[in-house]
Amino acid sequence: MSEKESFRCKLVTYDEIVEWTRDLAKKIRACDCKPTVIIGLTRGGWVPARLLCDLLGVKKLYAVKTEHWGVTANPDGKALLTQELNARIDDEEVLLVDDITDTGESMSIAKAHLQDMRPGVLKTAALLHITRSTFVPDFYSVEVPADGWTWFIFPWNRNEDLRTLLPKTLYEEKGEADIQKAFREQFQIDVPLEDIRTTLEDLEAAGTVTRAGEKWTRA
Ligand code: ADE
Repeated sequence: MSEKESFRCKLVTYDEIVEWTRDLAKKIRACDCKPTVIIGLTRGGWVPARLLCDLLGVKKLYAVKTEHWGVTANPDGKALLTQELNARIDDEEVLLVDDITDTGESMSIAKAHLQDMRPGVLKTAALLHITRSTFVPDFYSVEVPADGWTWFIFPWNRNEDLRTLLPKTLYEEKGEADIQKAFREQFQIDVPLEDIRTTLEDLEAAGTVTRAGEKWTRA
């Protein structure tokens, strides 16, 4: 039997995303900043960045990308800039947007890159800010205390995260209902059986899990 990994997760809904983004837009308006360019830090910052463009009336939406050496909930935080900005931002009022600041690595790397491109103003925003982050964004909607660290399963990442988490429930072979129970025990989330089935199908196709009758095991 292998190790039983456990950490707090939260399934985030699109309604929560809209609520947090509206709150963020309100805070940005209140400080009298009017971004002329919004840059989404991909992949997590894309949806919030697009929503903020709509709320704040911003037409110029660009992207930069950082990537982590790791997968879901790997807190080592090592990040690299893998896509530079391919637009001019000199003299623009720039808002760099991500979904969450956790270690703060992605935001600091992306901000340093944009600073080199001589924007007029450069501000940063995240929906969620975990207080352990070494980087504090200028704007955020929700503050998460470091001791309340949680892996947020964003709606745009739900399938990918479930594919990462599900094999961790298979420290011993299980049926679908037991996998659902293990999600509750190990990760504090209620995952509908339908999602568990879809995830198992994806993982079986990828050769990550195998089935013997009603039971599933890691391949
Ligand atoms: N990306 C980096 N940290 C995260 C977290 N705690 N939850 C979801 N996505 C993240």
